[in-house]
Amino acid sequence: MELSDKKATLAFSDGSPSVEFPVYKGTVGPDVIDIRKLYGQTDMFTYDPGFMATASCESSITYIDGDKGQLLYRGYPIDQLAQNCNFMEVSYLLLNGELPEAQQKADFEQLITQHTMVQEQMQFFLRGFRADAHPMAILTGLVGGMSAFYHDSTDVANPEHRRISAIRLIAKMPTLVAMAHKHSVGQPLMYPQNDLSYTGNFLRMMFGTPCEDYKVNDVVERALDRIFILHADHEQNASTSTVRLCGSSGTNPYAAIAAGVACLWGPAHGGANEACLNMLEHLQANGGVEKVGEFMEKVKDKSSGVRLMGFGHRVYKNYDPRAKLMQETCKEVLAALGLENDPLFKLAMELERIALEDPYFVERKLYPNVDFYSGIVQRAIGIPTSLFTAIFALARTVGWIAQWDEMLSDPDYKIGRPRQLYTGYTERDIAE
Ligand code: CMC
Repeated sequence: MELSDKKATLAFSDGSPSVEFPVYKGTVGPDVIDIRKLYGQTDMFTYDPGFMATASCESSITYIDGDKGQLLYRGYPIDQLAQNCNFMEVSYLLLNGELPEAQQKADFEQLITQHTMVQEQMQFFLRGFRADAHPMAILTGLVGGMSAFYHDSTDVANPEHRRISAIRLIAKMPTLVAMAHKHSVGQPLMYPQNDLSYTGNFLRMMFGTPCEDYKVNDVVERALDRIFILHADHEQNASTSTVRLCGSSGTNPYAAIAAGVACLWGPAHGGANEACLNMLEHLQANGGVEKVGEFMEKVKDKSSGVRLMGFGHRVYKNYDPRAKLMQETCKEVLAALGLENDPLFKLAMELERIALEDPYFVERKLYPNVDFYSGIVQRAIGIPTSLFTAIFALARTVGWIAQWDEMLSDPDYKIGRPRQLYTGYTERDIAE
């Protein structure tokens, strides 16, 4: 952090002395006012529910410029990464700060590949779940359960333990998601096959059976790999902040990542892709494109409680750059699978067209986010709707781990402990 020449002064209307705070500069983006001494000097807290104006940490991993619609991983624009790299290279970049050289890439892929299998006992843990359990419920349990199966690497003060847990989590997440899927459809679990790519292997564990060979479709593999890249990190969003806060207590990485999975599940966050596809399907079943206008009126009517899922973002006040790439992938996959006339895609395009012209959306700067098209791609690939958020969790694991490791590597990190404005009863006695 670099100290700015500027200082911030906080003045009070009741004549109390004003207080000065240092201002720090990042490499790009808003400066921050360092208020760490505020409470000590004024006996007051800041109040910022939803963290609308609070930088909770210093980070050098991911940068978003919401007004420009820009997303950078370690400085590289997301579109360049999506067009030139695969998910393993992007994972290496997020973890290590630089894109890998050819040998580093090969070594990293081999390392991940060596850890794709999960402890055999985990399948008995899996079998304890009902077949109709939501995959995110299963995944939260399985990831948290990893701390019981891999307790040899849970010393978070040891960088080597942190590295091994990171590799294990990234490598095993596809296996766990595929296990959750196979459990729900009642098919035998598929072991990883390590001569396949990370994404090809996941596709085979999802859709292959022991009865016949599974051939990975290149277009599908590339599309899913791109979904992984686009979801890999997104700075201090709700689930990442959850991982950091949970991890700040010194808990083991599997517990911290399980907390992230649980947070991601919500419909305002990672659950939006599932909610978006459900919305499109519902609309399609109830009049389709013809009824889009009527539906949009409902969305704009606050009393209806209906939101256009896959639209709007806390940080992007412009087109989400991931949505553009996802729309491109959507077209490519539908064409490759002979689904050019997919009615849900047409419906989504029509909703987007109307929204981008409608003053309600324009004034509020509401644009499609990554989830608007990702559900259509996943559905075309054959991924069940209820598994969408688990795919998101799989991809985000590397971001969570990179952010968690960055926090723990900082010698000055502290347990996260927000304060509050208390508005309950003052002290009172129980009546005799
Ligand atoms: N449909 C209709 N109105 C909306 C929508 C929407 N999708 N999103 C925001 N608004 C309105 C909202 O009603 C409010 O209007 P007003 O100022 O008149 O009260 C205004 O826009 C600002 O909304 P907000 O809820 O204060 O904004 P926020 O920054 O707190 O919420 C959000 C961001 C993503 C939760 C919200 O836009 C939303 O609920 N979107 C739908 C869910 C969704 O697609 N989420 C995925 C986010 S991207 C994936 C991820 O990173 O997890």
